[in-house]
Amino acid sequence: MRILVTGAGGQVGLDLIAYLRGAGHEVHGSDISPRPSADALDASVPWHHLDVTKGERIEALLREIEVEQVFHLAAILSARGEKNPGLTYAVNQGGTYNLLEACRSSGVTRVVFTSTIAVYGPGLAEPVGDAVSLQPQTMYGVTKVAGELLGDYYQRRYGLDFRAVRFPGLISASLPGGGTSDYALFMYLDGVRTGAYEAFCRPDTRIPLMYMPDGVRALAELGAADRSSLSRTVYNIAAFSPTAAEIARSVADAIEGVEITFVPDPMRQAILDSWPNALDDTNARNDWGWKPAFDLAAMTAELVPQVRALVKANPERFASHE
Ligand code: SER
Repeated sequence: MRILVTGAGGQVGLDLIAYLRGAGHEVHGSDISPRPSADALDASVPWHHLDVTKGERIEALLREIEVEQVFHLAAILSARGEKNPGLTYAVNQGGTYNLLEACRSSGVTRVVFTSTIAVYGPGLAEPVGDAVSLQPQTMYGVTKVAGELLGDYYQRRYGLDFRAVRFPGLISASLPGGGTSDYALFMYLDGVRTGAYEAFCRPDTRIPLMYMPDGVRALAELGAADRSSLSRTVYNIAAFSPTAAEIARSVADAIEGVEITFVPDPMRQAILDSWPNALDDTNARNDWGWKPAFDLAAMTAELVPQVRALVKANPERFASHE
């Protein structure tokens, strides 16, 4: 199948492209950022410059490359989004509308959308199921709720086959950029790089997390599932929910002498406190056979050597982060 990934230069995109190509698909990447270097993205993958706030450009690209399926990842994450809510609205909400509209008018049949734990607000019964009240506290969360609802509308109104996962915080050997769940990844990255990390949250902070290989597999599996097996458009997926202190201990077990401290940043801590501790992903398990492969210990065992190799190969790329 021919597939387009938007926001392909972000946290999820390159891993997703590699996974989909491994499954035999022809995959095009697009992003507002330039093409990643050859060590990060195979030279044979077509790359298109795409600003999702420009609807006509999306439509022109879809007509030009004639894809059947789009994975729509382009978005500004939660912490960066609070620094510029207007731009976040334009990119996330406007971008998703533009993308759906371009898919409808150019004949793309299926869209897979990445939603998030940030659609939830405080005070929900744990673990949080799919069909509960959505009261997001960030512009990122607001736009992701709107994206879910728009996709649902396009499915009912126009028959566009729309599917979405609500991702936990994702962790991989890459720089995320602007997420509030990033403290987890930075423990590994800075733990390897400098032997120390000052986390911007309290040690008892607990949110749902997932290792990236599980995340991209979930997207690909939902994208390939039979429509007739899907009872809804948007699915929670879950893996593990450690406290920040538990992640720090896992990192310390794997990296000798590492020192992780906690100095909460009020804005990001408030966002974290508004998210669920744990998600109920029963519907995803029942409808399309979702099952995570990695828990915290398995992730740490695989991730630490990967981060070591990456940091060694590209010391300048990992030298600083937000
Ligand atoms: N990882 C995202 C963020 O922190 C949550 O979807 O914004």
